[in-house]
Amino acid sequence: MSQSSADRARYDRATAHLDAPLAVVDLAAFDANAADLVARAGGKPIRVASKSVRCRALLERVLAREGFAGVMAFTLPEALWLARAGFDDVLLAYPSADRAAFAELAADPKLAAAVSVMVDDEAQLDLIDAARGADGTERIRVCLELDTSLRALGGRVRIGALRSPLHSPERLGALARRVAARPGFRVVGVMAYEGHIAGVGDAVRGRPGRSLAVRLMQAAARRELASRRAEAVAAVRLAVPDLEFVNGGGTGSVQHTAAEDAVTEIAAGSGLYVPRLFDNYRAFRGRPAALLALPVVRRPGVGVVTVLGGGYPASGAAGRDRLPEPWLPEGLRYDPQEGPGEVQTPLLGPAADDLLIGDRVWFRHAKAGELCERFAELHLVEGDAVVGTVPTYRGEGRTFL
Ligand SMILES: Cc1ncc(COP(=O)(O)O)c(C=O)c1O
Repeated sequence: MSQSSADRARYDRATAHLDAPLAVVDLAAFDANAADLVARAGGKPIRVASKSVRCRALLERVLAREGFAGVMAFTLPEALWLARAGFDDVLLAYPSADRAAFAELAADPKLAAAVSVMVDDEAQLDLIDAARGADGTERIRVCLELDTSLRALGGRVRIGALRSPLHSPERLGALARRVAARPGFRVVGVMAYEGHIAGVGDAVRGRPGRSLAVRLMQAAARRELASRRAEAVAAVRLAVPDLEFVNGGGTGSVQHTAAEDAVTEIAAGSGLYVPRLFDNYRAFRGRPAALLALPVVRRPGVGVVTVLGGGYPASGAAGRDRLPEPWLPEGLRYDPQEGPGEVQTPLLGPAADDLLIGDRVWFRHAKAGELCERFAELHLVEGDAVVGTVPTYRGEGRTFL
């Protein structure tokens, strides 16, 4: 039996007592992926990106491992919720405009000690100050974000996500000085996330030309960023000698980012579930750990079955690569007219003829954590048994975005 047939048989047996649609996490694959990330980080701690996990029990599982430390959260209410639940080191990686949440943060010493917020503009500090209530006297921990984009042709070409406006070490250093001089705030970290390196696959199947172009771009971007990041951190340290951390990287860049002396910790999350967008990297090959099962509910004709649900596209620029991937049994594809639908999804291919009403088709999501916005719980599979069932953020009634 091939590995994929064996996995399918295992997942079917483990969940036979449950009704689909359902989602599982294969714990052996999840743990192996976690170990691989730690090995790639070469001794630097990994801060787990919660958006790519969206399940408290699995965040706790990974943080119990040697090599992981701290959470990278995606909204301020989420960061406060995690801090109240006992996560004591939470970096909010995206600026917030949530005044009520800032008021809570500034009034609570336990929250203010656990949560660091992202800043790349003094107007964000003005918003926080305006949100503080009369008892909002806590000093807010601030992380400054550097723009990692590669600029070429005198700035006419820009490669990288549109995030922080602070590109030069001088501008980052200047903001560090202003924040350090401002009452009510304390600079504790620097973050520089190179999404055009960490989040773009350099070995896309069937696209050798594109893969080569990505490799050349990433090699140039890595070189440029390594020296600029070191200068930027040095500029911040002049104003903030006791800087606590410098965060960088993501699943696709762990070993490269970790090799930079200026970086003290790596962020990663997708490499735990290994969704389909993370298949296309030379630096890393993980095991798909998060899967969803949809039930066959009709058989419209020869070579086609229809499953319930399936229309769960991932965020980002729309394209076929954002769709869930029919995974097991192998050899199923979407109907080009319909794609994965809002309530049902036809699947074509010879494998369809072996599927009966009530059988399951297993899918991989294109991205990691977004799967958890569709399912209230994750069934944890070990071998061919479900050994536990844990709520996702959604299952805890927490839909932060
Ligand atoms: C700031 C930041 N760091 C790191 C990551 C990497 O996360 P992952 O490993 O899930 O790709 C992301 C993902 O978008 C991010 O926004």
